[in-house]
Amino acid sequence: MKRLPVALLATLTLAACSHPAAETPGATKPAPAASVASAPVKHPAAPAFAPPADSDIPAGPLGDEIRLGRAIFTDTPAQAHDYVGNGLSCSNCHLDAGRLANSAPLWGAWGMYPQYRKKNGHVNSFGERLQGCFRYSMNGKAPPLDSDIIVALESYAWWMSKGAPNGVKLAGAGYPKQDFKPPQPPDYARGAVVYAKDCALCHGADGQGQQVNDRNVFPPLWGPQSFNWGAGMHELDNAAAFIKANMPLSRGGTLSDQDAWDVAMYMDAHERPQDPRYAGDVAATRAKYHDTPMSLYGTTVNGHLLGSEASK
Ligand code: HEC
Ligand code: HEC
Repeated sequence: MKRLPVALLATLTLAACSHPAAETPGATKPAPAASVASAPVKHPAAPAFAPPADSDIPAGPLGDEIRLGRAIFTDTPAQAHDYVGNGLSCSNCHLDAGRLANSAPLWGAWGMYPQYRKKNGHVNSFGERLQGCFRYSMNGKAPPLDSDIIVALESYAWWMSKGAPNGVKLAGAGYPKQDFKPPQPPDYARGAVVYAKDCALCHGADGQGQQVNDRNVFPPLWGPQSFNWGAGMHELDNAAAFIKANMPLSRGGTLSDQDAWDVAMYMDAHERPQDPRYAGDVAATRAKYHDTPMSLYGTTVNGHLLGSEASK
């Protein structure tokens, strides 16, 4: 793996930590994503909801559980070792420890469950939604619903949503994929150019990110240590919306819509771990789970049948 010069790495690591810090609860102020929302893009306006500050986590057993949830969310491989099969943490995709608007913040999700999900064809509790993240995004396995891991993550999400209306889709919830369409169909070759220019510095020319002492400083985007073929981020609309709003890190909103879609396609046209629901062959798995233009699984891009060399 290539290493960056230490000084550059330090600068980038600082950039990686430059999300707005904890804020005073109740104060009227721009929410964390104000810089994103004020950029000239079609994102929802700055969210009205501001989550409480970490310093307001109470003392006592409930506070301990909330703090444990936060630790699991931000250092998942270490804190939930038995259930994680890659190097990612939840907060790699849900930025600022799950607080950042337009980065599927926990406060935008908690009040929207129980929820019917097409992905598994039934009503999911919030806990079951979390189990799905372990199985797919973390390429691991689902912790039991009554495990400390799920209960701690639920406690953290519940606490972060304190004061948010229930059952209302808040501005800044999810990734801003509504009405976010590519001007032209996304293109692999154009995506490769965007990748080399705007992403490779941190995520590596080979997409494997950068690790120091086995920990990700910059997370991988494909390959055996990435999210698997069942994860939401492998779908082009999720990836394009996440990238447009949040990448390059600390410069969210600066890519053109076309560049965001092209680079999302480039990223999602690389091999990654197999879908754990693999149904015997790639075509059958595509037919059963990926029969959508948003998934490249089982399609041939750049001469390669995607999914055919997925690690199992
Ligand atoms: C590789 C990126 C990635 C990682 C890692 C990841 N997620 Fe997600 N997560 C997503 C995507 C993509 C979605 C789908 C968002 C959408 O459909 O709008 C999602 C959705 C969610 C949702 C539902 C959000 C909503 O608004 O309904 C929750 C809750 C969640 N993730 C929690 C977690 C937790 C907890 C972990 C760690 C155990 C985790 N995620 C790891 C990418 C990721
Ligand atoms: C300045 C360094 C930097 C640049 C440039 C950058 N990223 Fe990232 N990226 C990060 C970091 C750091 C994270 C994890 C964020 C966190 O944990 O707070 C991340 C997370 C991600 C994730 C979710 C986690 C994962 O590994 O799947 C995706 C997808 C992603 N970046 C794609 C891109 C794309 C595409 C580009 C180019 C348009 C890009 N990034 C440019 C630093 C960068």
